[in-house]
Amino acid sequence: MSDITKIILDCDPGHDDAVAIMLAAGSPKIELLGITTESGNQTIEKTSRNALKVLQWIGRGDIPVYMGCKGPMVREKMTAADIHGETGLDGPAFPEITLKLQEKHAVQYIVETLMASEEPITMVTTGPMTNLGMAIRMEPAIVEKIDKIVLMGGSYQNGNVTPAAEFNIICDPEAAYICFTCGRPVYMMGLDITRKVLCVPEVVERMKKIGNKASDLFVDLMAHFCRTQKEIFGFPGGPLHDPCTIVWLIAPDVITLKPMHTTIDISRGESYGRTNCDFFNYQKKSINSNVAVAVDVDRYWDVIEEELRRYS
Ligand code: BDR
Ligand code: CA
Repeated sequence: MSDITKIILDCDPGHDDAVAIMLAAGSPKIELLGITTESGNQTIEKTSRNALKVLQWIGRGDIPVYMGCKGPMVREKMTAADIHGETGLDGPAFPEITLKLQEKHAVQYIVETLMASEEPITMVTTGPMTNLGMAIRMEPAIVEKIDKIVLMGGSYQNGNVTPAAEFNIICDPEAAYICFTCGRPVYMMGLDITRKVLCVPEVVERMKKIGNKASDLFVDLMAHFCRTQKEIFGFPGGPLHDPCTIVWLIAPDVITLKPMHTTIDISRGESYGRTNCDFFNYQKKSINSNVAVAVDVDRYWDVIEEELRRYS
């Protein structure tokens, strides 16, 4: 068995998604087969363009980008312009984009890639789970080709959009429901740990010292992200949510997971979009998820620095 993890990264860049892209594209432990985009932090047109901006910046135009669904399965569309700005990636000054999107739809790409693969592929989602949920409904036979689903989303404590729900899950609870019940192992990096990896000014200074194109982008991204996170949530640094998925794939010892039975609330009540994680396994129900419960914050930043240093 190869120790390189083949992934498809489904994302809605997004400042923290952009960092996840840089880590996934550069790590020798990961083969990034393709990027699929979600409507989430901004509209699908904007998040797709943002994925191209990041890839062009780091010189990885060889990684194909497929535009995904224009909105969620059932509920009305949401964005997070208050955090990520009008473009979805406000802050850095990007040059004109010459990279182009692939013509194929993201859902079609996910289905075809999984069906054609001889080895199972890891699906990483750092946005709403619409494309993956749609792909599972479009061709249920893909499920056995999924090695695991690694997502940033949810929380066993409180949410960040409602007291109960986290942004990626509440953007499309029905899609998350399909993914969590598909039968493949789910590794959930929720707010419980992602709110611990705060990109405080000392971290930004540390990454600035690397002095390459990836760290330059990191610093410019964090200038906007940390400001809005402070204004809205009062955090002393932006929680670097999405890279938790990729850091865990690169260095699993950094994040501690606990097996739990998790359901997604699709009842449309006050807790719509909540990840109900049975932390104590009191209900003795089948385990369908491994939920992140602790993160070694110092090691987290070590891994991020090490990965950004791979760029010239
Ligand atoms: C999640 O929501 C988005 O705004 C971030 O990119 C992250 O994926 C955090 O709740
Ligand atoms: Ca995201």
